[in-house]
Amino acid sequence: MAALRAAGCVFAEDEAQLILTAARTPEELAALVHRRVTGLPLELVLGWAEFRGLRIAVEPGVFVPRRRTEFLVAQALAHAPDAAVVVDLCCGSGAVGAALAAALGRPEVHAADVDPAAVRCARGNLAAAGGLVHTGDLFEALPGALRGRVDILAANVPYVPTDEVALLPAEARDHEPLVALDGGPDGLDVLRRVAAEAPGWLAPGGCVLVETSERQAPAAVAAFARSGLTTRLAVSEELYAHVVIGVRP
Ligand SMILES: C[S@@+](CC[C@H](N)C(=O)[O-])C[C@H]1O[C@@H](n2cnc3c(N)ncnc32)[C@H](O)[C@@H]1O
Repeated sequence: MAALRAAGCVFAEDEAQLILTAARTPEELAALVHRRVTGLPLELVLGWAEFRGLRIAVEPGVFVPRRRTEFLVAQALAHAPDAAVVVDLCCGSGAVGAALAAALGRPEVHAADVDPAAVRCARGNLAAAGGLVHTGDLFEALPGALRGRVDILAANVPYVPTDEVALLPAEARDHEPLVALDGGPDGLDVLRRVAAEAPGWLAPGGCVLVETSERQAPAAVAAFARSGLTTRLAVSEELYAHVVIGVRP
């Protein structure tokens, strides 16, 4: 624990406990501590991240799911508690899709990402739910048969403005791929594309949800409204999370 604390780990005691549990031998323990003190995110040291009570496997080069995003999942479930068709677009590890599947019972689950490393990781995490994970640019990756049938379209898109990527904590900057973080000049490039195309994929009454920052929220809401979606912003002060929800009338 002293090594973790000296390296600046804020929750050194909790982290030490998790690392101790993960290591099977003293040599493995030394290797895991070394990885952590040299800056690897805890979740990549352990190989998993906790998300809505699930252990989500995370692999090097794949975005680590954030606890903040649990709020997006909760909002989706509040809107569509009986959803039968779920899409996790920009899925990364597939944490959002896995959490939705776990809460909904046995929905049809599709996920997609442009990054093959994320797709591989999501396939593992969504296997138990029978989820299908597709590779490609946003909606191009999805089977056409999903058009007009999606009850929940969750899209935790990259939303950091390009100029601000360099200001992120080193754990994100150095260990997560740029494609998972960089949302273009104002951070909303991918979000606007999702807003424009989402209505064609949603079932009547279906919802699309994205996470934004507080500063971006008004522009994100406007982009959804321009697409003809009935739009609102949900905020969690506790998780400092801002989720824009658009519903197909
Ligand atoms: C912020 S991460 C979110 C990952 C995951 N949904 C989560 O919440 O942990 C954004 C993800 O979007 C993917 N992505 C970025 N641009 C994309 C695009 N044009 N089409 C599909 N996926 C994209 C990245 O590869 C990355 O996995």
